[in-house]
Amino acid sequence: MRIYRILYRQARVLEERLDYYSQFNPSPLSMQQFTDFGENATNSDSFMFLRKELPVRLANIMKEFNLLPNKLLHMPSVEAVRNLYRQSFLDLLHFQDGIGPVTTTTLDKFTDALVKIRNRHSDVVMTMAQGVMELKEAHAINANTEANIQYFLDRFYMNRISIRMLINQHTILFGDSVNHQNHIGCIDPQCDVVKVIEDSYSNARFLCDQYYLASPELVLRCHNGKDKATKTIMAAGAKADKTAVSVVYVPSHLYHMLFELFKNAMRAVVEHHGAASDTFPPIDVLLVMGQEDLTIRLSDQGGGIPRSVMDFLFNYMYSTAPQPAVSGLDTPPLAGYGYGLPLSRLYARYFHGDLQVTSCDGYGTDTIIYLKALSSEANELLPVYNKTCQRQYSTPVQTHDWSSQAHSALFVRPFSTSSRPRTQPPSLATSDTQ
Ligand SMILES: Nc1ncnc2c1ncn2[C@@H]1O[C@H](COP(=O)(O)OP(=O)(O)O)[C@@H](O)[C@H]1O
Ligand SMILES: [Mg+2]
Repeated sequence: MRIYRILYRQARVLEERLDYYSQFNPSPLSMQQFTDFGENATNSDSFMFLRKELPVRLANIMKEFNLLPNKLLHMPSVEAVRNLYRQSFLDLLHFQDGIGPVTTTTLDKFTDALVKIRNRHSDVVMTMAQGVMELKEAHAINANTEANIQYFLDRFYMNRISIRMLINQHTILFGDSVNHQNHIGCIDPQCDVVKVIEDSYSNARFLCDQYYLASPELVLRCHNGKDKATKTIMAAGAKADKTAVSVVYVPSHLYHMLFELFKNAMRAVVEHHGAASDTFPPIDVLLVMGQEDLTIRLSDQGGGIPRSVMDFLFNYMYSTAPQPAVSGLDTPPLAGYGYGLPLSRLYARYFHGDLQVTSCDGYGTDTIIYLKALSSEANELLPVYNKTCQRQYSTPVQTHDWSSQAHSALFVRPFSTSSRPRTQPPSLATSDTQ
């Protein structure tokens, strides 16, 4: 009986604290603020900021969970994810105002707590994906539920990216996490974009070779349109001017996006031309530094994507690769969860960039990553729990107001398995691995 009373009291404290912290909007930081802070702030400054900002970001998304359909909330994996969030939120409450003077011990305990939280949440993307799969297996999903899940997952994963960014900055700068030379936390003030392109290409190529025993070449051109002195470099194996294009950025985020795009492009090229083919058209990459944007365009000749499925590309779980078995969760790089594009777009948008796909059906696809060239303009983009967001969940999906049903993709976003041809190997299809 006593244990129930304790649990009940704990649940009430949790709800009350969640209500409190979710009233605050998260404070987005710019890339420049991250680097200034990293160079000048003390462990104690960072602690004072994070001990409020982290619970605020957690509370904002935890409140949004409540707006999801009950059916989804009752899926075991979703319950497991919510419990992780509750635990981490409670852990952070130990460091709120009123704990007395901030000693070195407090700071050490805080850093340890952050490391624990980061580790606890490392599989959240996969667990949440599994939760949605559980729902699909147990229930039929209507268009409203589908749209709500898509809306929620974009916000939930973006929130997670931002929380991991804050935790990584703190633990690298003030804890034992490995600090890369010349980096400020996980930010490289001179991120060598050519190198990240080459690294991600090589690793995607390694996978592609493993699967198909063949892979397309890379042809990379760089254009510096910022300093007027136009520089065009051919870098397919040739020695490139490595300093030509650099930006203040998180290399692991850029790598994540490019790796996903290269895998997609390679899979398309090899499938389209046939693995037994002698030669494949290369993947052409154009890297341009402009005044405002840094643009990376990947062009493949992998047969393209028909317009009828274009609208589904960024849906979580949309994939033309076979859906992996649940036991396949141990091998994310080879799984076809359809998380590659939507998650990569979140990474791009996180610092106010974007990721777009255009295609010529029957020929090939262009995928473009845009990043903000200036660190002062690269602000975090964060979901906020407020009336507007609450309304999103209760607004029904629009009914058709055009006569033609032929392009149903223009109106309805599918979540059903029927839209997934399951003829290709899962090979280069992937989900988040960060
Ligand atoms: N470059 C491309 N060419 C052709 N189809 C593509 C390309 N990129 C993505 N696609 C299509 O979009 C789908 C979703 O891609 P993604 O989100 O990376 O998930 P996954 O690779 O796990 O299937 C792919 O299954 C594929 O059908
Ligand atoms: Mg993919």
